[in-house]
Amino acid sequence: MDLTREEQAILDGESGEGTQKAMELVVALGRIYGAEGLVGITSAHLSGASYKTIGDGGLLYLEDVVKSGSKVKVPSTLNPIGMDRERWKEMHVSPEFAEKQLRIVSLYGSMGIKTTCSCTPYTQDNVPRLGDHVAWAESSALSFVNSYIGARTNREGGPGALAAAILGKTANYGLHLERNRAPNVIIEAEIGNSLFEHSLLGQAVGIRIGSKIPYYRGIRPGIEEAKTMAAAMAAAGSVAMFHVEGTTPEAKKYDVSGLETIYIGQKEIKEAREKLNTVDDVQLIALGCPHLTDKEMHEIASLLKGKKKKSDTEVWFCTSKTVRDRCTEDVKIMEQFGPVLADTCMVVAPIEGTFSKTGTNSCKAANYLPTLCSQKVMCQDITELLKVIQ
Ligand code: F3S
Repeated sequence: MDLTREEQAILDGESGEGTQKAMELVVALGRIYGAEGLVGITSAHLSGASYKTIGDGGLLYLEDVVKSGSKVKVPSTLNPIGMDRERWKEMHVSPEFAEKQLRIVSLYGSMGIKTTCSCTPYTQDNVPRLGDHVAWAESSALSFVNSYIGARTNREGGPGALAAAILGKTANYGLHLERNRAPNVIIEAEIGNSLFEHSLLGQAVGIRIGSKIPYYRGIRPGIEEAKTMAAAMAAAGSVAMFHVEGTTPEAKKYDVSGLETIYIGQKEIKEAREKLNTVDDVQLIALGCPHLTDKEMHEIASLLKGKKKKSDTEVWFCTSKTVRDRCTEDVKIMEQFGPVLADTCMVVAPIEGTFSKTGTNSCKAANYLPTLCSQKVMCQDITELLKVIQ
């Protein structure tokens, strides 16, 4: 792997231990994946923010990084944490968990990372441009920016994205290279317009194609549909990038004739939904995976307007603080049904201490709730979920 003189000096420890460790990690990843060198990045997005997922080991690791004096060199944002920073008691979170979670956020903040704690920073304070090289973790977000925006990132893990943020560079391999961004399977989709069917489409495709790059025909997703598809494809398979004919910026570059074609219609959508549903009643309905956008907040508020909650089932709406602060009228309506939570989500929060059956309209959440949160799952369209509480 070719390093510049300056990069080699960092690797040799001439700029201090913190940047040396970051360079060691980025170079090790580059060597494993055959990178020829490093490439400058314009932003990073970091996962590994919830105390539930990183535990005391992760907290100690972050303390070490901070002690080494490391700061990020490029604008960097943070993924959801295990609780709303202001309303964690409403989430049944213990004071011990809250104390450690707040320490984690503070450590990230002291490295210069924006602690907005959302998995949709591309709708708020971290918006890459077409062709930008970035280092993003969070499987749904990185797939969205690769695909819908045309920025370039690999499927980074939390430590790799943090190291890249500290250096302002990452190893130049995989999806940073033009030649690796071409589609290798066509998906002929014949589905309805709802957000939920787009999530199920992502689920059906992810299961079938693993880590291939699909080229979709037959859909025209907006931001909300693309983010839910990206999330489901990444969870059901490990898709890090997709193209949509007539929609995503790089789709027109490719001649897809001769590629294998997979058809996804109502039969496949129904099959995907049936496999994810393991329960008929729920204790918690959690919406906002990935985090709710302004448009989704308006849609949910208009579905709930004038209605009354008639059951004990708890309802959580998960979004970013930025969106919550912007949608004050919607929040007033939604809060009649349950808290509009910022900074967090149903998967990275410690819900398993309180609930065992959760409803969601996100196939990504439905994939992870059983394994990461010991939940049985109801995975349905939002209108069906809301019938449970009305
Ligand atoms: Fe975001 Fe949590 Fe879903 S991080 S994509 S809301 S699992």
